[in-house]
Amino acid sequence: MIRLSTGIPEFDKLIEGGIPQGFFVAITGEPGTGKTIFSLHFIAEGLKEGDLCIYVTTEESRDSIIRQAKQFGWDFEEYIEKKLIIIDALMKEKNDEWSLTELTPEELINKIVEAKQKLGYGRARLVIDSVSALFLDKPAMARKISYQLKRVLNKWNFTIYATSQYAITTSQAFGFGVEHVADGIIRFMRRIRDGELKRYIIIEKMRQTDHDKHVWEIDIQKGKGLVLKGKLEKRKEDYALPEKVIKMILEAEKKKNEEI
Ligand SMILES: Nc1ncnc2c1ncn2[C@@H]1O[C@H](COP(=O)(O)OP(=O)(O)OP(=O)(O)O)[C@@H](O)[C@H]1O
Ligand SMILES: [Mg+2]
Repeated sequence: MIRLSTGIPEFDKLIEGGIPQGFFVAITGEPGTGKTIFSLHFIAEGLKEGDLCIYVTTEESRDSIIRQAKQFGWDFEEYIEKKLIIIDALMKEKNDEWSLTELTPEELINKIVEAKQKLGYGRARLVIDSVSALFLDKPAMARKISYQLKRVLNKWNFTIYATSQYAITTSQAFGFGVEHVADGIIRFMRRIRDGELKRYIIIEKMRQTDHDKHVWEIDIQKGKGLVLKGKLEKRKEDYALPEKVIKMILEAEKKKNEEI
C-alpha cells in the first residue's frame, strides 16, 4: 500500500508511515486547534515530493493561506499554477480564475477538476478547508454532500483532507456526515489547563491501519509548525472530581448522618 507522508514525521509514525493513497480524511476540531496548519504541512510535503496540490479555502483568503505558510518556512508562491492551485472560496472575486463565486458542491467539484486538468497528470493532494462551509445552512445534507465529493474526486487520483468544525458550545460536528464517509478521522481538541491553552490530537479512525489510539499534546511553534509534545498520561485530574468537590460531598454525607 502506498502511504503519503503528512509532512510531520512523528505523526507519520502513528499511522504506519502515512495516509493511504486515495483516502478521504476528515480533520475535525474546534476553532484555532491547528486544522489549517496541519493541512498546510500536508501540502508543503506534497510540493516537496513533486505531487500536484490543490487547496480550497473557504474561511481565509488565498493571501492569508500563503502568508501563514510562509511563517513556517514554506514558499507556496513559487509553485502556484505549476504544482499548486489555491481555490479561494472566500473573496468571491469575479475576475480571478481560481475563485469560487458560489459555494455549492457542484461548483466546487467543477473547479477542483478544472484545477487538476490544468496541473496535469499525476499523484495529487487535495485539501478542502473547510468542507463544513458547504452545509452550514443545511446540516442534514452533510452526509450526502460528503459522499458526493468523495465519490467524484476519488476518480482523479486525489488523497484528500477535508477539515470540519466543531460547535464550541455542544462539541457537535456540523453534520456528522463527514465522519461516516471519511476513511480516516483526525480530531483536534483544546483545553485550558493551569490558565493556559493546550491543544491535543487523536486519531479516531484510519481504515486499513493499525493506528495509535492515544491523545497527544501538540504545539504550534513559530518557524516550525505543528509538533507533537508527548502522549497524554492519564492523570487523576482527568477522571477524578476536583478535591474541593469531593470534600463538599463528604461533608454533606457526614451532616446527613449526624441528622439521622
Ligand atoms: N506563526 C505562528 N507561530 C506560532 N503559532 C501560530 C503561528 N501562526 C498561527 N499560530 C497558532 O495557530 C492557531 C491557528 O491554527 P489554525 O489556523 O490551524 O486553526 P484551525 O483549527 O484551522 O482554526 P479554524 O477552525 O478557526 O479555521 C493560532 O490561533 C495560533 O495559536
Ligand atoms: Mg482553519
